[in-house]
Amino acid sequence: MSEASISTDLAFADGDDALSPILTATDSMSVTSDGCLMVEGKRVDELVKEFGTPLYMLSERTLRANYRRVARAMADAWPAATKILYAIKANNNLAVRAIFHQEGAGGDCFGEGELYATFLGGATPDSVVLNGSNKSPRDLRAAAELGLVINIDGEDEIGFLRDIALELNRSIRVCLRLRVIPEEFADRAPDYIDSAGRSLAEKIEAAQWGLSVENAARLIPAIMDTPGLDLLGYHHHLGRLLPDLDYNTAWARELTGSIGVLEKRTGYVPRLLNIGGGFARERDPESRNRELNPTRVEDHIRVVTSELISGLNGLGIPLPELWVEPGRYLVGNAGVLLGTVGQIKRDNERVWINADFSINNLMRIETSGSNYHVLAANRLRTPAVEAATVVGPLCTGSPIARDRPMPELNRGDILAVLDAGMYAETASTQFNGVPRPCTVLVNGERVDVIKERESVLDVFAKHRIPPRLRR
Ligand SMILES: Cc1ncc(COP(=O)(O)O)c(C=O)c1O
Repeated sequence: MSEASISTDLAFADGDDALSPILTATDSMSVTSDGCLMVEGKRVDELVKEFGTPLYMLSERTLRANYRRVARAMADAWPAATKILYAIKANNNLAVRAIFHQEGAGGDCFGEGELYATFLGGATPDSVVLNGSNKSPRDLRAAAELGLVINIDGEDEIGFLRDIALELNRSIRVCLRLRVIPEEFADRAPDYIDSAGRSLAEKIEAAQWGLSVENAARLIPAIMDTPGLDLLGYHHHLGRLLPDLDYNTAWARELTGSIGVLEKRTGYVPRLLNIGGGFARERDPESRNRELNPTRVEDHIRVVTSELISGLNGLGIPLPELWVEPGRYLVGNAGVLLGTVGQIKRDNERVWINADFSINNLMRIETSGSNYHVLAANRLRTPAVEAATVVGPLCTGSPIARDRPMPELNRGDILAVLDAGMYAETASTQFNGVPRPCTVLVNGERVDVIKERESVLDVFAKHRIPPRLRR
C-alpha cells in the first residue's frame, strides 16, 4: 500500500470521518453522526433499502453548482461572449441533459444517439455542435436540419454539406476541427503512460481527430468558397490527459500559433473558438492519484484563457466568442455508485470484499486505469482495521480498489464509489449477462428514478434464436 493511499484513506481518527478530507467545493455529501453517507441530506442506507443496488445516484444540487462555477469562471476570464456546451458523452441521462438545459447549456454531440438524447432532454440548436471524425451523411443532414454547428473533420464532409445546404436551401454553420500537438510539453512528460502503454506524445499523435495546419490551410479557402457554408471558426479538444496546467498552457500557445499561421496563409480570422472539454477536477480518479488535485476549475480556465488572450492579442486577432465543451467536470462528482457487500473472503493473507457492482459499471478502471475513492458508506466514522481488495461479481479479475484500508465490514454493508457521475453509466456494459443498474436523482428530500434498473430479460431482449436452432 503506498504512503499516499494510507494518508488519504486513514486521515481520520475515532469520531472523525473518512469523507471530509476528500470533499470538494461543489460536493453535496456529508456524514451522519452514526457514520452514514448522505447526499443532499438523504441517507444512502435508506436509498439502498428503497431502490436496491447497484445504484447510481446523482445530486441535482452538485450538477447545477458545477455548471454555475464554470459559467462564472468563463465570464470572469473571457472579455467576449462565452458559451458552455455540455458534452453529453460524460453522462447521457435525459434528466441530466434537462437540468443543464435549464441552466442555459448548449451541447456537444457525437452521432445520432447523442443528438437524440440532447434534444429529448432539451437544447437550443444554435449552441449545439456535432463532432466526429466520420459523420455519416445522415447525421450531417440531421444536424443541418436542426440548425447545429458542424465541426468539419475531413475533406469529404465539405461536399456532403454543400449538397445538403443546396437541398435544404439554407446556410450551414461550420467550424474546422484543428489538430494541435503541444510537442514541447509532450516531450517533457516521460512518466505518462496510458492504459494501452502509450506515451503522451504517442497518444496525441495517434488520435484521429482534427486537421493539421497544412491541411486546414488547404481546406479553409475551399470551405469559404462553398456556397451554403458559413465558417464560424475553429474547434479543438485536447482532453484531460494530465492534471498539470503547464501542459494546457503549452497547448493554448500552440493553438494560437496555429490560428496565426492560418491567418497569414489564408487571411481567415475566426469569429468563434471552441476549445472542447477536459477541465481539471479536484478529485481526479483518472490521474490514478487519490490525493486531491490542488488545481481548481477556475485555475484551469484562467490559465488557458489568459494564454489565448495574450496569443491572440499578440497576433492582432480580435477575441472571438469562446465555447467550451465540459463533460467530466460538470457531472463527475455529482454521481456516487452504491453497492452491497456480499461475501468477504480471507485467504492467503489477503482480504477480498465482494460487492454487487463491478467494472461493468465503472469501465474507466479498465480503459483509463481510474483509481476511485471507495468508501464504506455506512461505516464512515469507523477507523480502518485491514487492507482489502474490493471486487465485483464478474469472471474477470478487475478490482474496483486494491489493498484499501477498510473498517470491519459484514455482508449487507454498503460501499460507495465517488465520482461515478462521469463516463460510468455511458460506458457501462452487461458483461457476464449482468443487467445495468437503476439511477436516481436526488434533489433535497425528493428522489426520482431517472433510469430504471434493467432485468435479465432486458439484457437478452434483442437476441434471436433462428428457428433452425430450436429443438
Ligand atoms: C470533442 C469533445 N468535447 C468534449 C469532451 C468532453 O471532455 P471532458 O469530459 O474531459 O470534459 C470530449 C471527450 O472526449 C470530446 O471528445
